[in-house]
Amino acid sequence: MTRFPLPPNATIGLVGGGQLGRMSALAAARLGYRCHILTRETDSPAAQVSHGVTISDYSDPVSLRAFADGVDVISFEFENVSAEGLDLLASIRPVRPSPSVLRISQDRVEEKTFLNGAGVATAPWARVESRGELDEAVRRLGLPAVLKTTRLGYDGKGQATLRAVEDLDGAWDRLDPKPLVLEGFVDFAQEISVVVARGEDGDLSCFDTVENRHRDHILDLTLAPARISQAADQAARAIGCRVAEALDVVGLLAVEMFIDSGGNVLVNEIAPRPHNSGHWTIDACPASQFELHIRAIAGLALPPATRHSDAVMKNLIGPEGMALWPAALAEPGLIPHLYGKAAALPGRKMGHVTRLFPRGGLPGDFGVDAALAVLGG
Ligand SMILES: Nc1ncnc2c1ncn2[C@@H]1O[C@H](COP(=O)(O)OP(=O)(O)O)[C@@H](O)[C@H]1O
Ligand SMILES: [Mg+2]
Repeated sequence: MTRFPLPPNATIGLVGGGQLGRMSALAAARLGYRCHILTRETDSPAAQVSHGVTISDYSDPVSLRAFADGVDVISFEFENVSAEGLDLLASIRPVRPSPSVLRISQDRVEEKTFLNGAGVATAPWARVESRGELDEAVRRLGLPAVLKTTRLGYDGKGQATLRAVEDLDGAWDRLDPKPLVLEGFVDFAQEISVVVARGEDGDLSCFDTVENRHRDHILDLTLAPARISQAADQAARAIGCRVAEALDVVGLLAVEMFIDSGGNVLVNEIAPRPHNSGHWTIDACPASQFELHIRAIAGLALPPATRHSDAVMKNLIGPEGMALWPAALAEPGLIPHLYGKAAALPGRKMGHVTRLFPRGGLPGDFGVDAALAVLGG
């Protein structure tokens, strides 16, 4: 029987071996917990810094059972565990956040249905099961639009922007698995996100709203705090808290949002785990998103999600990102983070760099560019 709050030296099971698991495990270690990682990879970023590892497919019942038996509580940095796998894990140990939360966030149709049902605005969307339904959805939502797989998409994989009717056939053939979801294109002024932690007794700690800039559909920069109106900031935080409560999350929830040209805040997608746009909190906050994640799943009290500094976070991606690593190490004032991945494949998140500014001192765009100048454009 697991008792909460977890006592020191308890073992937290984390499903997924990537950088989010690595940084979660580092935060757990500081709080006196051990982590045991379940991953398919033999040399994973998370297992390199953890107490134990089970290397297995996420669907093998024997491995899932052995993994669950060896830990006190189970959480995730990777959400795409099968429903049966989740049920098996939850039958053995507490799973936080609960499988029902993961089932919603795994599937864009479930997610949007849930959000709209909770009174949260999204881009207009339609579920698309067949080529005929795609034509119908395009007639209804217009072009441009974004066609996405409902499951397994990340870093822009599993989606296509449709600009003209000629784009429909190719996108329909390429995107897999079906069904798909069509979203109206949001001509956004800014992309923002909020990371909120929710404890077992329902208390909430919400980090400042941040602004995200993508390059090739992959997060490139996060600016903390977002330079947005007070109204948009309040709307974003309120949405983050409302979604966390509606989902009954115990753990962390990241909410990606658009601010459209009319100043409306629309939710793009949610993730019930630490998020790339929250990495700045390691260096700019007394307690990072990873610490809040661990505290929430361990049943500890949540400190307020305050920041002592403003920050810019830049991802180091693929071979180009690794080429910047010596400069990231050498430049005074840059705080370097590397994830321990062996191969710098194109598009792969290898590490990140944070630059802090005095609270209230986040510069404008030219100043941000200047602060990261050694890392190129
Ligand atoms: N409906 C949309 N309108 C405009 N841009 C979009 C839309 N959906 C996605 N994008 C762009 O593509 C990026 C990745 O899409 P997202 O749905 O967040 O998928 P992923 O799971 O790959 O992060 C977004 O951050 C945004 O820049
Ligand atoms: Mg996204």
